[in-house]
Amino acid sequence: MAERIEVLLTEEEVDRRIQEIGDQISRDYAGKQVHLVCVLKGGSFFMCELAKRISVPVSIDFMSVSSYGGDTKSSGVVRIVKDLDEPLKDKHVIVVEDIVDSGRTLSYLLDMLDSRGPLDVRLCTLLDKPDRRVVDVKVDYTGFNIPDEFVVGYGLDYDQKYRNLPYIGVVKFE
Ligand code: IMP
Ligand code: MG
Repeated sequence: MAERIEVLLTEEEVDRRIQEIGDQISRDYAGKQVHLVCVLKGGSFFMCELAKRISVPVSIDFMSVSSYGGDTKSSGVVRIVKDLDEPLKDKHVIVVEDIVDSGRTLSYLLDMLDSRGPLDVRLCTLLDKPDRRVVDVKVDYTGFNIPDEFVVGYGLDYDQKYRNLPYIGVVKFE
């Protein structure tokens, strides 16, 4: 099926918002160190940009879970594909996600990370689709609330494509 991409959020808008979140996190964690946990692959572009804009000491780690196939619908199945390298004990953890949709992935992930003894765990997402929520999750930092449309860019893919777009676009199927 052919698809085309319509710009939803420009590169400038996204960059400006990431700077604001970085400033907010720097204020909230003044005098502390934060440990950013990136959920691969989608969260990676956002995490790198965000990390550069945080002024308190930062460490990073990566994990990969799978809840989606090559489709645009959630399967509801969450599987750890790659676990973290570092323990979370005594760390201020911020999970960095590309998007919260049904909330299934995050709800599972946050419980799991919480059981590893961090000082606290917060959630930071670039995008949120509140209309799609099935499982309640507390989002501490949100870039943008967006309507219920399938989006790509800034790490988000459709069938592994478009992650490299420097803006957020809506996929339109013709
Ligand atoms: P959830 O468990 O339904 O909240 O799914 C979250 C994951 O689904 C995200 O981390 C993305 O990988 C994927 N996802 C949800 N909505 C979109 C979208 O609009 N575009 C691309 N990926 C999406
Ligand atoms: Mg994701």
